[in-house]
This record gives sequence, structure tokens and C-alpha cells, in this order.
Amino acid sequence: MALWGGRFSQASDARFKAFNDSLPFDYRLAEQDIVGSVAWSMALHRTGVLTQVEQQQLQAALEELLVEVQQDPDQILQSDAEDIHSWVEGKLIGKVGDLGKKLHTGRSRNDQVATDLKLWCKEQGEEIYAALVKLQEALVTLAGREQSTVLPGYTHLQRAQPLTFGHWCLAYVEMFDRDIGRIKDAMHRLDTCPLGSGALAGTAYPIDRNELATSLGFRAATLNSLDAVSDRDHVLEMIFAASTSMLHLSRMAEDLIFYNSGEAGFIELDDAVTSGSSLMPQKKNPDALELIRGKTGRVVASLTGLMVTIKALPMAYNKDMQEDKEGLFDAVDTWLACLDMAALCLKDLKVNQDATLEAAKQGYSNATELADYLVAKGLPFREAHHVVGEVVVNAIAQKRALEEFELADLQKYSPLIEQDVFEHLTIEACLAKREVLGGTSRASVESALNGKSEYEIQQ
Ligand code: ARG
Repeated sequence: MALWGGRFSQASDARFKAFNDSLPFDYRLAEQDIVGSVAWSMALHRTGVLTQVEQQQLQAALEELLVEVQQDPDQILQSDAEDIHSWVEGKLIGKVGDLGKKLHTGRSRNDQVATDLKLWCKEQGEEIYAALVKLQEALVTLAGREQSTVLPGYTHLQRAQPLTFGHWCLAYVEMFDRDIGRIKDAMHRLDTCPLGSGALAGTAYPIDRNELATSLGFRAATLNSLDAVSDRDHVLEMIFAASTSMLHLSRMAEDLIFYNSGEAGFIELDDAVTSGSSLMPQKKNPDALELIRGKTGRVVASLTGLMVTIKALPMAYNKDMQEDKEGLFDAVDTWLACLDMAALCLKDLKVNQDATLEAAKQGYSNATELADYLVAKGLPFREAHHVVGEVVVNAIAQKRALEEFELADLQKYSPLIEQDVFEHLTIEACLAKREVLGGTSRASVESALNGKSEYEIQQ
């Protein structure tokens, strides 16, 4: 039976009911709804609406329901209740009879759903935090293993300057650090309890809302009832944090897909995270990484979708807001699954150190070094850049690396070039010079890794 039947003389059209019901997706808020209901029963008791015995009876029945839900969550979907709030209330009435009908005194589904959703976000925030740290650990472990491995660095997908593989890993550790910051920040902001805001104007019962908020583990109560029931910033922020993190995951996946390609051959992904082709027996496809890259689209779509839904909604609650849940659930589920899968892909990834070194040697990645060499000999950088550009044009024509020129040939471009130039053109020299804070030199990566001591490095 619907919660609002009194005003109606006709039943809902079955098609409308199916269209309107949110139980098929908000069943996921069952635990939060029950926990919130227990706290509400206590608040009602404190104001004298429920006797102690009544409150205890309600609490016992709700706790029993919680266990049932945990044991058999699928039972919820068998019901034709409109939403999870009606379902919990219906079950409660089924257990304690008319007393169950008292629980909704002074409460609205509007403050109830806002509270349930925030409780859900808080729980998921913890899981996301843990998954991000686990992924960082996988990156730090790989960075430790491949700390000194040379990797060609790219800009515009053209070889630019040599890097160490460890440096590449730690770049992503930084990105995931910011994701952790974003989720923590979102968790702090959403940690206020809407319960007691009623439908929009505040409950008519003298509830101590701060006490109620604290009893549910919130740091405070919300301060404006109108805002509290119509605010979905926290949902947007969760999905924004998910979207930004998915962009990071997608870029990492894309790097690895390229490194794993036949053309690059820099890494080999483990069999456990790749799949074959039904037709071409030679194939070992990076499906896990491609799915991470692909799923980024739907998370970003959830963000855009909800932003557009919220835009121009009049105060206060409108049913449009029910559309917040599926996108949020999907974004968080997808994010968690991708964080886990990314860590799995990194675990047994093998780096082909010969191939990465060979590639780093090609493509004139040491051209900047030659320019810096000339600068050290007194040539202004802009002129040095021009001279080296001319050397590179010739080198390309002759299909030679810079270090393969005879000294006399190099000297035709600048008399400042001497025998010592060759030691400046090695990969080792390129790397060693980048010892600045945040640079790619082995020493810099070593100290960056030491700074990540909070992550376990299992070498
Ligand atoms: N199922 C609704 C939602 O998810 C719950 C709130 C319903 N409130 C109302 N006034 N119809 O938003």
C-alpha cells in the first residue's frame, strides 16, 4: 500500500507506478534507512512522542529487519513498495502493527532520503579512500622495482626526453593523492545531517537536531531546512571526484595500452588481465585497461546528467531529484571496480628494459642536452637551440643519432663543440642532470620514493 493513499480515490496506473517507483534502485539504501529510522525513533522518544517501551519495541523490530536485510538483500526487490522508505515502514508495521505507523511522526521522505544518501556516501568514501591507497601502493611497488629503468618520455606522442620508469609511476601516485584529497574534502562537506528538516520547513517537533546528527555519526546538523532537503551538492561532488579520478585512471590505462602495443613493446601485461581473440590466435588484448578507459565515459556522463537535472530546479524537493541515485551508484561502483582493476594490472606487469632503453636512445631525446652543452660553453640558449636544430635535420637525413657523428662533423655546426660532448649525450647523463626536486634523475626518484614511506614497498 502506498504511504499517501488517503487523498486518492483511484489506484495508480500500473505504468505510472513502474515509472515512479525507485525501489528497483534505492533498495541499496536499506541499511541506511533502517539505521536512520532507529535514530529518529530515539529522537522522538526524547521529545515525548514515543514512550520508552514503544521506542524499544520499534528499535528491536528495526534491528531485526537490519539482520534480515543483510542476510537476504534480494527479498527487497520482490516487493512492490514505491521506494525503500515505504518498504522499511511497511516491514516495520508488519512486525509491530500500529505502533510502526507512529515512526513517521514529524519526518518526511525528503529529509529521510537526503540523510540516507549522505550516510551511503560516507560509507563509500571510506571504501574509495582505501582503494585509492591500494592503487598507490601498487604504483609505489612498481616504481621501486623499475626505479632505474629508462623510459622514453613523450610530448605530442613524439619522443622528447628520457625518463625513468619509476618517475612515470610516481606521476600517477601524485594524481591519486589529489583524488584522495578531493574525496576527503567532499566527505567533510557532506558530513551534516538533514534529518529533522521535515518536508521543507523543519519538523514541528522539538527535536535536538545536533544530538540526532551526532547519534548518526555526523559532525553537525544542517542549518537550513529548505537547503537541506533540496541540496544534492554532495552527490555532484562525489561524482566529480569519481570523474576526475577516472580521467587519471584512463590516462594511465592509455599510457599502458600504448606501452603494451606491438609498436612500442615496452611492457607485457600479465595473462591474468588480458584476453585473446576468437579469430586471431596471436592476440593478447589489453581488455582490462581498455575497459577502464571506456568506462570513464559513463562516469563523466553521470556527472553531466545530474548537473543538468539539478539546474533550474525550484525550491525545494522535486521528484527530479530521485534521478540522482542511479548515476551516483553507477559512478561509485565503476570507480571502485576500476581502481581495483588498475592495481591488478600493475601487479604482474613486466617491463622490457632493453626495449625501453633502445627507444629512449632513438628520436633525438638528447637534443636538449646538446643545446645545454653549448650554453655551458657560452652560447645563448636561443642560438644553441638553432644550431642543434640544424644538426638534427642533418642527422635525420643521414639516419644517425647525435652521438654517432664524428667530432669534426659536429664542429662544423659550432666550434664550441669538443671531445667532451659525447659524455653529455648519453642517456645516463641526460637523466643524471635532472636532479631537481620533482625531476626524473635516479637520485630524485629515490628521494621521492622515500617520501612515500607511508605506502608499503614490497620489492
Ligand atoms: N524516492 C524518493 C527519492 O528518491 C524519495 C523522496 C520522495 N519524496 C516525495 N515527496 N515524493 O527522491
